[in-house]
Amino acid sequence: MDLVAEILKLKKERDAVILAHNYQDGDIQDIADFVGDSLELSRKAAEVSESVIVFCGVHFMAETAKILAPEKTVLLPSLDAGCGLADMITAPQLREFKTEHPGAKVVCYVNSTAEVKAESDACCTSANAVRVVENIDADEVIMVPDKYLSAHVEEELRKKGVSKKIIAWNGYCPVHMKILPEYIERLKMKHPSAKIITHPECACTVTRLSDSVKSTSGMSDFVRESGSETFIIGTEVGLLHRLREEFPDKKFIPATGLAECKYMKEIDLHNLYESLRDMKHVIDVDPEVARKAKSAIDEMMKF
Ligand code: 13P
Ligand code: SF4
Repeated sequence: MDLVAEILKLKKERDAVILAHNYQDGDIQDIADFVGDSLELSRKAAEVSESVIVFCGVHFMAETAKILAPEKTVLLPSLDAGCGLADMITAPQLREFKTEHPGAKVVCYVNSTAEVKAESDACCTSANAVRVVENIDADEVIMVPDKYLSAHVEEELRKKGVSKKIIAWNGYCPVHMKILPEYIERLKMKHPSAKIITHPECACTVTRLSDSVKSTSGMSDFVRESGSETFIIGTEVGLLHRLREEFPDKKFIPATGLAECKYMKEIDLHNLYESLRDMKHVIDVDPEVARKAKSAIDEMMKF
C-alpha cells in the first residue's frame, strides 16, 4: 500500500489538516500541511478552517490545539507520544508550590498538562518565555516545569536590567540533557567558524557556549539571517531535516545524535494513516480545565 497516497486521500475525505512539530521524522514533516515550533503550531491550530486537526507531535501539543480550537476534532496518532518534561509536575504539586510562594504569579512552559496550565497565570513557549515573564505583572514569578528555561529567562532579564525573582521548579527535558558541553567544545574545535545554536531546554553549561539560544523555529530564522555556512545544532535531531530542506547549501552538525526524543518518534506514517482511517485518538480536555488553561494561553498570546 502507498501510505503517502492513502494519507492524502483520507485527509481530503476527513476534511483534515496535518500539523507537525519540527522534531518529527522527515517523512512526517514532508507530508504535513504545516511544520513549526510549539508557538506556531498553537497559532495554526486556532486559525485553520478544516474540521479535523491531526497533530503529529506530543500529547501536550494536541491538548493545546484542542483548547484553542474546541469545536474541532483533534487526533493524536499515538497515545504514547508523551513528554518527559511535562510529566515532571502535576497540578496538585503546583498547587502546593503556589502556597509556599503566595505573592508570586505562575508562568508555565507550554510543555505541561492542561491541568497544570489551568493552575497558571500565563503560559509561555521557548519562543516567547522572556517576553512573557518580563511583562507579567508580578515581581516574583514561579516558572514550571523546566529549570533550564527558567535559568535562561533569568539570565536574559538580568542582561536587560529587569529585576524579577524567578522561582523555578526542578524539572528538565531528558533529551536535551544528553547534549553535553564537551560535545559542543569538541565540535567547535573541529569547525571553528561554525555558529552554535542551542535550545533553552539545554543545561546552562551548554547555552553559555552558544552564539544564540532559540526555539526550534527560531533556529531556522537565525540561520536565514546569518552569513555563516556551518551551524552546530543543540536540540533534538529531528530539526536537522527541516534545516537541511530549507537551507540545502548550508551545513548542519548535530551537537549529538543521542538527542532523540522517543515520544516525538512515536508517530510514523503507519499510525498517521490509521489515525485518519479510524479517527483516533481523539484528544479531549475537561471543559472547566480547558477554560482555565485557555486563559493562561490567551495571556501568553497578548505578549
Ligand atoms: P519548541 O517550542 O522550541 O519547538 O520546543 C518544543 C519542545 O518540545 C522542545 O523540546
Ligand atoms: Fe518533551 Fe523533551 Fe521530547 Fe521536547 S524533546 S517533547 S521537552 S521530552
